[in-house]
Amino acid sequence: MINKLMTDYRQKTDTAIDLFFPQCNKEYSAVIEAARYSLTLGGKRIRPILMLLFAKLCGGKEAEILPFAVALEMIHTYSLIHDDLPCMDNDDMRRGKPSCHIKFGEDTALLAGDTLLTESFGVALKSTADAENKLRALDVLRERAGADGMIGGQVMDLSFEKASPDAEALKRMYLMKTGALLSAAAEIGCILSGADENTINIARKYAQNTGLAFQIIDDILDVTGDEAVLGKPIGSDSENNKTTFVTLFGLEKAKEIAIELTTEALNLLKKLDGDTSDIALLTDYLLNRNY
Ligand code: IPE
Ligand code: IPE
Ligand code: MG
Ligand code: MG
Ligand code: MG
Repeated sequence: MINKLMTDYRQKTDTAIDLFFPQCNKEYSAVIEAARYSLTLGGKRIRPILMLLFAKLCGGKEAEILPFAVALEMIHTYSLIHDDLPCMDNDDMRRGKPSCHIKFGEDTALLAGDTLLTESFGVALKSTADAENKLRALDVLRERAGADGMIGGQVMDLSFEKASPDAEALKRMYLMKTGALLSAAAEIGCILSGADENTINIARKYAQNTGLAFQIIDDILDVTGDEAVLGKPIGSDSENNKTTFVTLFGLEKAKEIAIELTTEALNLLKKLDGDTSDIALLTDYLLNRNY
């Protein structure tokens, strides 16, 4: 059932990416091609799916949500392109293919990331949702992607390569580098659908717990994963001297913590009106994934 859900929503997202991603046949089109390469390689499309599921729960119109779903996936993809650069995690493989900088060079990869970020706001603007909700959603997107969100988290991640963060510091960093974009997904789905503040707040807390669990599973897969399935190098964290939940707690305890966070997320879903069973299925899938 989860497989059908994921396939259906992934297809909706991919169709919308084809529709909304900027076309370019000018002399600088190489940067658009590099951006399109990383965006269309695959990926689980978790963030668009989460946004669409929360919108469905809150009675939103899918057509009004899809431009934001694509915009968020563009921002996530830019974060991955930059994350793989030699000055950051220095990883050669992403989504089962050579990383953007391996295929197109560091200069083009840097600019492809910049392109995805900048153009994402143009794509989001195409939404025909209520203007006030749209403005608020754009600001959530900016905040979660920005210095107080994913970017700040990445800065902390890099600084921690030379420090010894404790679990609390690591948790703060994970909430930003990974939790921020997941919470943007859930919240924007609610906001564009005209949900009330209580629903938006619960959606945010749900996504923060899910985001923490998601990053802990990512840490575990960096040790136990199969590179061919995962589509990115394993052992990257230890090579970069990262402190992770696995180095702090060991594999077994790290998984236990991810299970606890997932349980907390599922409990939060129960506080929402309406049928949250699809979101619960996705939440379980994220805990038990192998890629
Ligand atoms: C990878 O995200 C980066 C993290 C925040 C751990 P995903 O695991 O969602 O990557 P894709 O989109 O499926 O490639
Ligand atoms: C990355 O965390 C989070 C981002 C904001 C891109 P990781 O560095 O652990 O992600 P992977 O393992 O390379 O996908
Ligand atoms: Mg990283
Ligand atoms: Mg990385
Ligand atoms: Mg990782």
